[in-house]
Amino acid sequence: LERTFSIIKPDATKRNLTGAINAKFEAAGLRIVAQKRIHLTKAQAGAFYAVHAERPFYDELCEFMASAPIVAQVLEGEGAIAKNREVMGATNPADADAGTIRAEFAQSVGENSVHGSDAPETAAEEIAYFFSGLELVG
Ligand code: GTP
Ligand code: MG
Repeated sequence: LERTFSIIKPDATKRNLTGAINAKFEAAGLRIVAQKRIHLTKAQAGAFYAVHAERPFYDELCEFMASAPIVAQVLEGEGAIAKNREVMGATNPADADAGTIRAEFAQSVGENSVHGSDAPETAAEEIAYFFSGLELVG
């Protein structure tokens, strides 16, 4: 079974939506095999999103990700990386398909409620950034 890394972002934790979001992952057949609630520093958010360092929204993104707690988690299932992104919906909620997390809950292209790894390499890196092997319980 494949594993992917997921974040429930500050806009969603602030609005008490972690359960509603995870219900959608579970309904899609994804299992939460690791989970923790943490409050990132801006530097930690910056390191996580280093790939976007040259984008114009980078500073805003790091401020946002450090603005309130997040829930970092690992989802497991068949084709988990693609399935997670399907359940999340498009980055901009205005473009997200009906029924997706971002269509239902996201507030804007920046405050878009969830993160999901985009490939096997980034999934492995992102899981290792937040979790030790001991914390992954399939
Ligand atoms: P992630 O799962 O969070 O990586 O989202 P994504 O893969 O759908 O989008 P991408 O990797 O392109 O961008 C990463 C994150 O940067 C997005 O999820 C948004 O939170 C933020 N972001 C992307 N584009 C914009 C933008 O135009 N403005 C702002 N403020 N934030 C953006
Ligand atoms: Mg991305």
